[in-house]
Parts: sequence; C-alpha cells; structure tokens
Amino acid sequence: MLKLLTQYACQSCGAIFPRWQGQCATCEEWNTLEEEQVAKSPKSLPLMLAKKERVPIALKDVIVGDELAFPTGISELDHVLGGGLIKGSATLLGGEPGIGKSTLSLQVAQHLAISGLRVLYVSGEESVGQLHMRAARVGQVHPNLMVYAELDILKIIQALRTTKPDVVILDSIQVVFHPGIASVSGTVNQVRQCAQELITYVKEQDMAVVLIGHITKDGQLAGPKVLEHIVDVILYLEGERDQHYRLLRCFKNRFSTTSEIGIFEMKPTGLEGIANPSGLFMDERTLNSPGALVSALSEGSRVLLVEIQALVVDSGYGMAKRTFLGVDINRANLMIAALEKLLGFRLSTKDIILNVVGGIKIIEPALDLAMMLAIVSSLKDQSVGQKVGFFGEVGLTGEIRPVSNAEKRVLELEKMGFDYVMLPEKNHSACQGKQIKPIYVSHVREAVTYFLRGFEG
Ligand SMILES: Nc1ncnc2c1ncn2[C@@H]1O[C@H](COP(=O)(O)OP(=O)(O)OP(=O)(O)O)[C@@H](O)[C@H]1O
Ligand SMILES: [Mg+2]
Repeated sequence: MLKLLTQYACQSCGAIFPRWQGQCATCEEWNTLEEEQVAKSPKSLPLMLAKKERVPIALKDVIVGDELAFPTGISELDHVLGGGLIKGSATLLGGEPGIGKSTLSLQVAQHLAISGLRVLYVSGEESVGQLHMRAARVGQVHPNLMVYAELDILKIIQALRTTKPDVVILDSIQVVFHPGIASVSGTVNQVRQCAQELITYVKEQDMAVVLIGHITKDGQLAGPKVLEHIVDVILYLEGERDQHYRLLRCFKNRFSTTSEIGIFEMKPTGLEGIANPSGLFMDERTLNSPGALVSALSEGSRVLLVEIQALVVDSGYGMAKRTFLGVDINRANLMIAALEKLLGFRLSTKDIILNVVGGIKIIEPALDLAMMLAIVSSLKDQSVGQKVGFFGEVGLTGEIRPVSNAEKRVLELEKMGFDYVMLPEKNHSACQGKQIKPIYVSHVREAVTYFLRGFEG
C-alpha cells in the first residue's frame, strides 16, 4: 500500500510547503496553496516506464532522419510553428474555454491522418460520440485517426504502447490523472506528473505530442510553471468568443521563432486560416468618426492594419475611469500622462476608454502614436477625415522614436489604399520611392499640432 504524505502546493507556481500558509513564499500570490496527498517516496509510485538506457555520444555521430517535422497541413499553424510539429516534441496549446482548442486540434489530427500518419486523439473531456460528430463537421473521418476517451494517464500511455501513433493529442492535461497521486485532477502535482510521464514516453518513442491546456481567468496557463519548462512549444489561441476571428500566438518555441502569428476565422466547418489578414481589424465606415485611427503593426513577417478607438467623456464620478481593451495598460497610461504633462491637456476629469477593433491584443509600442492621437481626436471631437495610417513609439519626454520594419508597414498602408502615413522622422528612409505621402514627426507636440490642423491641403 502507498504511504501518503500531506503537503501544500502553490497552484500558481508549483512551490511545495510542508504547512499551509496564506501567501506563497515563492511567487507571493495569496490563497493559492492547496493540500495534496503524495506518495512518501517516488519509488513507491507504480514504475510504468521502462526507460531506454542512454550513453554519451559525440554530437557529430548523432543520426537525424530526413523528415524532422510533420507539417500539420493547416498553413497558418505551420507558419507559427515554423514548418510543423517536430518529431519527439511536446507542444502545449492553451486558450480560454470555448475558444476553439479542441476544434483546431481535431482539424490537425484529421490533416495528419490524411497525410498518412497514425494519430491518436485522447479526450478526457468529450465522449467518442461527441468527437465523431465534431470530426464529421470539420472534415472527413479518416481511418488513420484513432480516438480514445480516457482519463487515467497510465492507461493512456499503455494505449500509446499498443497503437504506436506518430502523433498524440491529449485534450486536456488538466483533466487526466495519475492513479499514484491522491490529489484531484488539475492540481499542480497531478498536472506535473501526468505531463512528465507522457512527455518522457513520447520523446523516447519519437512521437509528437500536443497537450491542450486550460487558462485561468487572468490569462495564465492553469497548472505549474514547470509545465511551461518541460514542453518545447507553447501556443495560445486567443480572440473574443463572440467574434469570429482567432489569433494563434507562440510564446515559446525551441525550434523556430516566436514572432509569427496565425489568424483564423471560426466557421461551422472549423477554424479556417486567413492568409491575407490586412483590413480585418479595421472598419472603413468608422474612419470618419472622431476617436478612430488606423495603425500598422508588425507581427513576425506580416503587417496588420488595426483600428484603435478612443472615447473621452466628462467623468460623472469623483474619480476618472480608465478602460483599456486590447492595448497595453502601461503604455496607455503613459500616453495619457504625456498628453497632460507635455501638451497641457486636462484629462484627469475625463473618463477614457480605449479599444482595439476585432478583439486583438497589442503590446507593440508602435501603436503609441495612434493611441495618443485617438485620445486627442475624441477629446477635440475631430476625425481624421482622410485615409491616414499612424505608427511610432512615444518616449517619456515626448520624443517619437523609430520602430522596426517601417518600410513593410508603409508598403502595407499603401497597398490598402491609404493616402498619408504619419511616422517617426528617423524612419524617413521607409517612404523613399513610395506613392503614399509621408508626414514625419519627431515630437508629440508636432504630431498633435499637425493632427488638429487637419490633413487636407
Ligand atoms: N455547429 C457549430 N457551428 C459553428 N461553430 C461551432 C459549432 N459548434 C461549435 N462551434 C464553435 O466552436 C467553439 C467551441 O470550440 P471548442 O470546443 O474547440 O473550444 P475549446 O477551446 O476546446 O473549449 P473547451 O476549453 O471548453 O474545451 C464554440 O465557441 C463555437 O464558436
Ligand atoms: Mg475542448
């Protein structure tokens, strides 16, 4: 019989404590410690994995096959992954409930099966009947695709041993459990142990594994940080659930860059990639309204045009309210402070609401100039009136700093029919030989003065 030991694990960072305490001493989060029962010695856990003996080897003698990656056949996903799922790798796909993680994974499973690979889709959340219904909705049900509704990780590993798939998808890591651990599914201990056992096995067998993970209400992956360390790739699917568009971002990739994003549209037949997303995140009709401006953002090898909207109104309460959706809160506060301090706008008595159209989240500083001028535009009730794109980073002293990939941004604006672009003075080489009319600015004062004067003439 297993001897059990009681310990307290932080559900945020995974730190272990012998006694309960209100605040985790490692990550300083409050009320995150939960009681767990663990086997006294790791040896007393059922030893399921017969590990391969390994010996040190000269790097030049390592034999690598020709086919290193399994292209998923979903071009937007392959674009983010840098080719496809790498053999012997573990990928974590996170996202909010209902965002489309299972849909995307099942589409990947179907594409891989059609390309001749053996795929096992393990679902702890849906029955095989539900999986069949969804699979039939998003594509053809291929004989190479096997499904397994199971929660016990040891049984899942046993199934891998018998079915020998090339790719395994686990939906989701938070619902499976290890029978050797007394705590409930989804706790740090369970998630860590299940992920470790599964990943160790699939890596030894050169399979590729995709783990689906839930995220908590503040946008973090539920489960221990250690999970983020043991996987090779971390992908997040994001977007507004009531909107059709979904963004796939990469937060970690041991095999390729993390700067590429994938853009999908949720359709009845599943998630469909959008190869040319420019213009998705703006609405031509609102561009003549005060407070609405377009910026050009660089996301990996692509440029996205996004519309930022600001609404500035007199505050009805004692304290002015700030509501920021899709923009970086710190940068938004910085813009408001700069407008107050450097240009003398009185914003402390105004409620300010900022929103990026289409549910996209932007942290790029190149949005600064558009964000600042959107606030001025709403405050002064003055629309842009022309097709103008804005980009540039704003510094604390009001200087407008150059941004990377300026030429690509200018080209995209020109391609989308924009007549003017307001950009940092130091990026002037980006406009050479272009039709679009540049307006160079080096300080916020210049930018605001130009904006209020108007673009006509
Ligand atoms: N018949 C349908 N037609 C169109 N869209 C559908 C249909 N059924 C489901 N969807 C879309 O799929 C989404 C659910 O996707 P999915 O189940 O893949 O999400 P998930 O991220 O796996 O969620 P969870 O974390 O709850 O498992 C729904 O929000 C809906 O937009
Ligand atoms: Mg799901």
